[in-house]
Amino acid sequence: MGQIIRFGVSLDSDLLVKFDHLCKEKNYTTRSEAIRDLIRNALVGRDWAEGKEELAGTVSLVYDHHHSELAQRLTEIQHEAHDLIVSVLHVHLDHHNCLEVLVLKGDARRIKELADRLISTRGVKHGNLGLTTTGQDLV
Ligand code: NI
Repeated sequence: MGQIIRFGVSLDSDLLVKFDHLCKEKNYTTRSEAIRDLIRNALVGRDWAEGKEELAGTVSLVYDHHHSELAQRLTEIQHEAHDLIVSVLHVHLDHHNCLEVLVLKGDARRIKELADRLISTRGVKHGNLGLTTTGQDLV
């Protein structure tokens, strides 16, 4: 971890008002912490765009387990990429609907491919890929 550096930022007063409102909405106690998170988000976004080899993400899937062979298909796809999957949480939301959350770690492109395959599987009602980081290159 490096030393803490203070620097000045010049910006339009209207933009600062909007930024301060945003900080309040997001519950930031200081502008500095909000700016640090914006920078981290930009860096993680760049890692994903550049296809970094060691990233982390989550995939959530909502589906009806009564749907013909869907659960079996989703399991098959996961087995084909088992090396990316750190953990899977399965919650029975009600009599019909299941929520599955996969925690993934590995190559950005492979994580996106796996997410696309799972989310586009016929019968999946809603799917989402959450892009994050292993945290190793961030302070
Ligand atoms: Ni279930």
